[in-house]
Amino acid sequence: MQCGAWDSLVETPVVSMAGVKTKISTPIQKPDRFHEITSSEKSRISTGNSEVDSVLGGGIVPGSLTLLAGDPGIGKSTLVLQLAGDISKTKKVLYISGEESAAQVKLRGGRIKDLNNEFEFLATTDVDQVLSHAISSNYDLIIVDSIQTMASQNLSGAAGTTSQITNNTNNIVRVAKDSNTAFIIIGHVTKEGNVAGPRLMEHLVDTVLYLEGERYGLLKMLRGVKNRFGATNEVGMLEMTEQGLKAVENPSEALLMERQELPGSVIYVGMEGTRPILVEVQALVSPSVFGYPKRVADGFDINRLGLLCAVMQKRGGVNLSTQDVYVNIVGGIKLTEPAIDLAIILAIASAASGKIINTSTVVFGEVGLSGEVRSVNMSNLRLQEAKKLGFDKAIVPASVKGAKYFGVKTIADAIKTLK
Ligand code: TYD
Ligand code: MG
Repeated sequence: MQCGAWDSLVETPVVSMAGVKTKISTPIQKPDRFHEITSSEKSRISTGNSEVDSVLGGGIVPGSLTLLAGDPGIGKSTLVLQLAGDISKTKKVLYISGEESAAQVKLRGGRIKDLNNEFEFLATTDVDQVLSHAISSNYDLIIVDSIQTMASQNLSGAAGTTSQITNNTNNIVRVAKDSNTAFIIIGHVTKEGNVAGPRLMEHLVDTVLYLEGERYGLLKMLRGVKNRFGATNEVGMLEMTEQGLKAVENPSEALLMERQELPGSVIYVGMEGTRPILVEVQALVSPSVFGYPKRVADGFDINRLGLLCAVMQKRGGVNLSTQDVYVNIVGGIKLTEPAIDLAIILAIASAASGKIINTSTVVFGEVGLSGEVRSVNMSNLRLQEAKKLGFDKAIVPASVKGAKYFGVKTIADAIKTLK
């Protein structure tokens, strides 16, 4: 193998078709009449955390598999420990850890305020133990922390390899459906491109949640990227405190708390799923020391930043060819919506000129290559949220109508509003 990647050789057992007969001996299964099938929303298991519930679409569906993925140290174990506690008030919960001993988990539990401790705990790395418990005991929920530490004796290869992860996940899926036990499985995201990581499992499970944020930042986002039982792209905001994770009911307020009105600071209204949030975009512009100007982005796509700088140069009359440009999205969150373009451009223009943007103004709008400002979806929802937080002015695409809104057609128009 020449690809130079670790763990990319996958064992593929050869299955002989020679002995397969056309005659089928298994008893035939009877299909149900669709209208006779019952399902009830009421059977969802509430997690006791409003943010987690809303990302899941109202709670955990019995018999479903949820993958909770994220960087190491982000707070996955802390979150599931809290969920185990809350859910065990009404349901039978088993928390299995292959990462930490019972004593270590107990120690962590000691930090969490009012942790309910009615759930059961098992420290093992043997996936067959996990499966047996699901089959033989009637747990409503089993938490597996993490899939990378689980190994089956029946498979070659160490825990965390591709074949172990896919086979073990497949077996858990089967057992979950048969026993109607819901599972939350933790998967670490590996920095090296997810070779043996959660991406392998995404298509096998019902729901995929990512816990994101900066490792040492306090705000964490729980993002639903796949959900068979609810809307995807819902986002829950959580805050890591000294006493565990807490739901943040008003994320915009939390994100804007330390804002200072200085050149280079712009408030952007983004949509995270169906919920608008206000975020501060910061830019810093300084003369390049070396010949080649630097572009650095934190929480934003670096290639898009390069493109927006080029558009500003060509269409906005802002010369950045000898300037380093740094952009930061406050709060350690990552934003990918094109609607942020105009906010990025105004933050850079403000930093470059030293002019500040009016303090009660928000900004959003997509920017095209010829410097035109394009309309974005859910403008009204964005403006309503801004208003709630005291931002009654806005620099937005021209299509948005409103007395105090500054509708702009081009980035040059937008830059002219800076004073
Ligand atoms: P952890 O939940 O172990 O992350 P993961 O399972 O995703 O690897 O750890 C999250 C971090 O949170 C860890 O550095 C310790 C910290 N922490 C708190 O700040 N407050 C708390 O109450 C707890 C339990 C952990
Ligand atoms: Mg952990």
